[in-house]
Amino acid sequence: MALIKWRDSFSVGVPRFDDDHKILLDILNEMFIIVRDQKGINYITVEINKLTQYTQEHFANEEAAMEKIGYPALDDHKTIHAKLLENVHLFKERIDNGDTQATTTFYHFLRKWLLTHIVEVDMQYKPFLTDSEDMTITD
Ligand SMILES: [Fe+2]
Repeated sequence: MALIKWRDSFSVGVPRFDDDHKILLDILNEMFIIVRDQKGINYITVEINKLTQYTQEHFANEEAAMEKIGYPALDDHKTIHAKLLENVHLFKERIDNGDTQATTTFYHFLRKWLLTHIVEVDMQYKPFLTDSEDMTITD
């Protein structure tokens, strides 16, 4: 296990979402350091709150962009997003209740989820959003 560096192969073709994903990887890396250095529950709590807030915002933006272009797999993608938030919440409860194993388990879960989500799930919207983003940005 080590810190994760951004790679060009992670790009979903939409710069603002690539930027979001870079920030999510930063949060994941911060989590790695907290777990590795056993920094304690307060650090974990702050990081999970940050993650929750950021993913909520990012998911909403992604979903709005997919909706705008009539992305065919939008419902499935929304379900996957909702499930992640639910899992983060459940892990947070375990950690808050003093489950010491949960922090490490959560890190591994999140790492796998994030990488898989970006390269396998988000990547599927790449051909749909790449062109339309340039044409429709009005804000
Ligand atoms: Fe997504």
